Amino acid sequence: MSDTWQLCTSCGSEIPETDPHVRCPSCRGLLEVRHRPPAQGGAALRAAFDARWGVRRGVLASGVWRYREAVLPSAATEDVLCYPEGNTPLLTSPAVARWAGTTGEALLLKHEGQNPTGSFKDRGMTVGVTQARRIGARAVACASTGNTAAALAAYAALGGLPALVLVPKGHVALGKLAQALAYGARTLLVRGSFDQCLELADQASDRLGVYLLNSVNPFRLEGQKTIVLELLQQLAWQPPDWIVVPAGNLGNTAAFGKALAEACEWGVIDRLPRLAAVQAEGAAPFALSFRDGFARRHRVEAHTVATAIQIGNPVSYDRAVRAVRDTKGVVIAVSDAEILEAKAVVDGAGIGCEPASAAAIAGTRRLAREGVIKSGDRVVAILTGHVLKDPASVTHYHQERDPAPPHANRPVEIDPHLEDVERAMTL
Ligand code: F0G
Repeated sequence: MSDTWQLCTSCGSEIPETDPHVRCPSCRGLLEVRHRPPAQGGAALRAAFDARWGVRRGVLASGVWRYREAVLPSAATEDVLCYPEGNTPLLTSPAVARWAGTTGEALLLKHEGQNPTGSFKDRGMTVGVTQARRIGARAVACASTGNTAAALAAYAALGGLPALVLVPKGHVALGKLAQALAYGARTLLVRGSFDQCLELADQASDRLGVYLLNSVNPFRLEGQKTIVLELLQQLAWQPPDWIVVPAGNLGNTAAFGKALAEACEWGVIDRLPRLAAVQAEGAAPFALSFRDGFARRHRVEAHTVATAIQIGNPVSYDRAVRAVRDTKGVVIAVSDAEILEAKAVVDGAGIGCEPASAAAIAGTRRLAREGVIKSGDRVVAILTGHVLKDPASVTHYHQERDPAPPHANRPVEIDPHLEDVERAMTL
């Protein structure tokens, strides 16, 4: 057995690292990538990661491949397809912290919207498309609420692979649809929900032999683990008390749990932060299951303004249950009104994010109010996508809603006269 292999979490089958199936060939269960622990763990592994910090060119300049021992150690450098991505900042904002009710600099915002295509999906996609090339895939495909499609389209174009994306017609933010078209993916506007798109993409990948790059694909999650590894490194390997993440299809929640479990097992950190997964109330099957103590899996028909997380039957459910249990985590749901207010605060602080990302901030506020996040706890909230992803949600909030919401910044239309400018400035 090589240093990396895939394990079916349903039936326990083991398959080689470069097997082209994205689900278990025996039972169609979800696969997990397993790595033999690196030869050197603990301080030596931290030192290896630290020595690469600031590398300016090539694969190790990527905030994903810097952690290659934890991602895909056997990938040859020439196989790796990267921009590079990652290297996203950890920001503080007094205005956001004040709104969320956290103390001082205790709230840090990891801005994954600063990835090349504007979302965290680039971290998974660099690994997914690298793996597609390693197995000789002839085309790649995904279902998406938009960001995965944008990332897939871009990385496939970089790698010269044909890309197929399936998105729910009318439920994809404009910036994301524009990216899929611009980067040249064959884009199918499906008259149905994201959950139906995913089922269709799954079937199509089987029938048509294209490589599926949804987060069903375990290699995507290996890349997304690096959000956690990078934030730990930015904190000099001192884990925060909480990591708060918006949750839709649950790929990130699952990836974060795996990253933390491995980091602990390999001696990179000595204690686990708690995960808080935040859903939108109208798309909260995971929060419903959490309330039941995970006694059963819920499915819902999803409706929320945060279209990125408008998902009713999350594919990584089982993986995410483990992540929450392992980290003594929590799962909550916040309303669309809370999401939009949080977004207006993050945007107004000059940082900006898309609606789904703001769920992490709304969730932080809720957990701080309920005393689950305690005063003085160090919290990292993940801003998953860029403000420009969903311009319509911004103009609707600021320009169109009546009555104007609390943080609305109404534009003022004027005639081309100086007095009109003066009047507008004193309003
Ligand atoms: N935030 C943003 C901006 C997203 O695009 C997504 C998922 C999530 C949060 C939720 O992450 O699915 O790992 O729980 N977007 C997927 C897509 C579904 O197709 O772009 P998750």
